[in-house]
Amino acid sequence: MCGIFAYLNYRVPRTRKEIFETLVKGLQRLEYRGYDSAGVAVDGPNSNERNSSICLVKKRGKVKALDEELYKQDSMDLEAELDTHFGIAHTRWATHGVPSAVNSHPHRSDKNNEFVVIHNGIITNYKELKKYLQIKGYEFESETDTEVIPKLIKYVFDNWESEYVSFSSLVERVIQQLEGAFALVFKSIHYPGEAIATRRGSPLLIGVRSKFDLSTEEIPITYNNSNFKNENNENDANRKQRLNSLTCLYSVGDLKAVEYYFASDASAIIEHTNKVIYLEDDDIAAVAEGKLSIHRMNRLAGDDSSRAIQTLQMEMQQIMKGNFKAFMQKEIFEQPESVVNTMRGRVCFENNTVILGGLKDHLKEIKRCRRLIVIGCGTSFHAAVATRQILEELTELPVMVELASDFLDRNTPVFRDDVCFFISQSGETADTLMALRYCKDRGALTVGVTNTVGSSICRETSCGIHINAGPEIGVASTKAYTSQFVAFVMFGLMMSEDRISLQKRRLEIISSLQALPGQIKAVLALDSKIKELADELYKQRSLLVMGRGFNYATCLEGALKIKEITYMHSEGILAGELKHGPLALIDKHMPVIMIIVRDACYTKCQNALQQVIARQGCPIIICSEDDPESMKNAYKTIEIPHTVDCLQGILSVIPLQLMSFHLAVLRGYDVDCPRNLAKSVTVE
Ligand code: F6R
Repeated sequence: MCGIFAYLNYRVPRTRKEIFETLVKGLQRLEYRGYDSAGVAVDGPNSNERNSSICLVKKRGKVKALDEELYKQDSMDLEAELDTHFGIAHTRWATHGVPSAVNSHPHRSDKNNEFVVIHNGIITNYKELKKYLQIKGYEFESETDTEVIPKLIKYVFDNWESEYVSFSSLVERVIQQLEGAFALVFKSIHYPGEAIATRRGSPLLIGVRSKFDLSTEEIPITYNNSNFKNENNENDANRKQRLNSLTCLYSVGDLKAVEYYFASDASAIIEHTNKVIYLEDDDIAAVAEGKLSIHRMNRLAGDDSSRAIQTLQMEMQQIMKGNFKAFMQKEIFEQPESVVNTMRGRVCFENNTVILGGLKDHLKEIKRCRRLIVIGCGTSFHAAVATRQILEELTELPVMVELASDFLDRNTPVFRDDVCFFISQSGETADTLMALRYCKDRGALTVGVTNTVGSSICRETSCGIHINAGPEIGVASTKAYTSQFVAFVMFGLMMSEDRISLQKRRLEIISSLQALPGQIKAVLALDSKIKELADELYKQRSLLVMGRGFNYATCLEGALKIKEITYMHSEGILAGELKHGPLALIDKHMPVIMIIVRDACYTKCQNALQQVIARQGCPIIICSEDDPESMKNAYKTIEIPHTVDCLQGILSVIPLQLMSFHLAVLRGYDVDCPRNLAKSVTVE
C-alpha cells in the first residue's frame, strides 16, 4: 500500500541535507509499497523552538522525482545544522483520488501547515467527518480520505477547553473519531521537535538509536491520560515536570542524544538500527524532549502491558539488490536458500521427523478438528491450492481453500471445531485479516502462516508458522510462494507422523525435500534458455498456461506473475477443463505453455496436448529431464528435474517466474513496480 517513514534527531546535529537524505532513503526502501507519488514535511527555513514553520514538498511519480524536487527548494539552506528536528515522509498508492501532488501525503490542516500527517490505511467514515468539518468552515484541497485527519486535529486543537493540551491528547481525541484502518504520524508547528505515531489495523514500528544498551528495555504502557494530568493552563515549568514524569525509555537525566525512526516496515529502519518497538492497535507513541512514551487508548484497568524493544534479525544485504537487475530477480534466485531457511530446525533428515514449534502445543486440537480451511489472497491463495491435495492425503481431513474476499462475501459457515489457516506473505493483507477476525469470532482455532514476524496476522492468530523466506521486496511474490508451499508440506508431514500407512509416502517426501535446494539450482540454471523463449514471446498479447493435478496451482501462479508484471493477458487453465471452453482459444497464433510431468496426470495431460496440437497449437512444454527424446525433439521444452509429485509444483513454477521476469524486461517495464499494484494490500 503506502509507505510511512519519519525521522527524529534529538540533540544529534544533522544538516538539512542529511535529513533529506535520510528521509528519501527511507522512502526508497518502502517504494515497493506504493509509488505513484511521494512527499515530505520538514521544519521551515526559520524554525526555532518558539517560532516554527513547516515546509511541505510533494511530487507525483516515484521517490526519485521527489528527491530532485527537494534540492530545488531555494529557501532551504541545505548546510544548516539542526540539533533537534522531526521530518515525516510518505510514498503513496492511490485509493481515493488520482495520483497527484495535492493528493499525496503529508496532508495538512490549513495553509499555515499547523498540523501535518502521513497515513497508511483507509478512513471509512471520512465522508461524514468531512461534511462536519466543512460545515465548521474547514476547506479541503484534496480528494483523499486522509485529509480529514489534519483538519480534525486542528479543529480539536482550536476548540480545546483549556489553554494547554498535549499533542498526544489531541491525537487521542482524533483517533476516537476515526473508523477504518490507519497508521499515522503527526507533526505540528505547535509542538516543535515532538512526534506522535499511532496505529489501528496498519503496521507501524519505531526504531531507536542511541549510545545506550537497549537490549533489555521494556516500555511500560500507560493508561490514557494518566500521565497527562494538570494539562489545563500548563506553563513551561509544569510542562517540563510532566515530560519528566512520563513513563519513558530512559530514566530522567540519562538522556543526551537519541534518534527515532518511524516506519511502516522494518526494511526502512534496519540500516539505522536493529532496535525496534512494534506498536499495537490503539497505541499512541509520543516523543517529546527526546523521550519516548507509549500510552494506550481504552486500556482496561489492571492491564499492565509493555512494549519490548526487539532486535531485528534482518540483515542489510537482504534488502539490497546486489548485482541483480530487480528485487524480483534476486528473490527468484534466492529460492535454493529460502526453502532451506523455511525447513531449518524443523525437518530433521537424520531421523525423518518434522516439528513445527509454533504448532506443537496445538497439534492434538488440530488432529481432532472437523476440517481445515486455508484462507488467503493472490499468490498466497495459490500456495494453498498447490498443497491442498497433499494436505488432504497426509492429514486425512477435508481441506477447503478459500479466497479471503469471497469467503467473507459468502458469510461462509465456520464452526468451533474448524481449524482456519491464514496464509499471507506480509501478514497485513486486509481481506485475510478480516477473514481471520471472522473465524475467531466463531470460535475456530486460527493459525497464521506468514513471512513477517510481528505482523497483524501473526499477532492475532492463536498459533502459526513463520515461513522465514526473508524480506520479499519485489511486488510480485516469488520466494514467499515456494516457502509457503514447503511450510504446508511440513505441516502435513507433522500431522502424519504417527500414521503407519503413510510412512513410506512421508519418507519419500522428506528425502525429496532434502534434494529440493539442489534441484531448484538446476532449474535456475535454465535461465538463459528461458530468456531465449521469452525473446520469441514478448511481443504477444496473450499467453495461456495449462496443467492439472499437482501442477494446476503452477498454472494459476505462473499466469498471475505474467499478467501482473508484463501486462500481457495470461490465464492459468486446468487441462481437464480445456474441452469445456478454453479450447476455443487455441489456434496457431495463440501462445501456450503446458506443464506435463511424470505423475498420475501424465496420460491425461498428453491427451490435452493432442487436443492443442490438433488445433495447430504449438505449445512450449515444461517437462521432466528424464522424458523421452521424442518429446524433447518434437516440441520446445523446458526440462526440469523430477521430484515427488507433491513437490513438483515448486520446480515447475520457477521457469514461469523467470519467464515473467524476462518478458517484463523485454517489454520495457519496471519489474519491481508494476502499474496499479503495491506490495501489501491493507485496504479491503
Ligand atoms: C502477486 C502478489 C499478490 C499477493 C496478495 C496477498 O505476486 O504478490 O497476489 O500474493 O496480495 O498478499 P499477502 O501474501 O501479503 O497476503
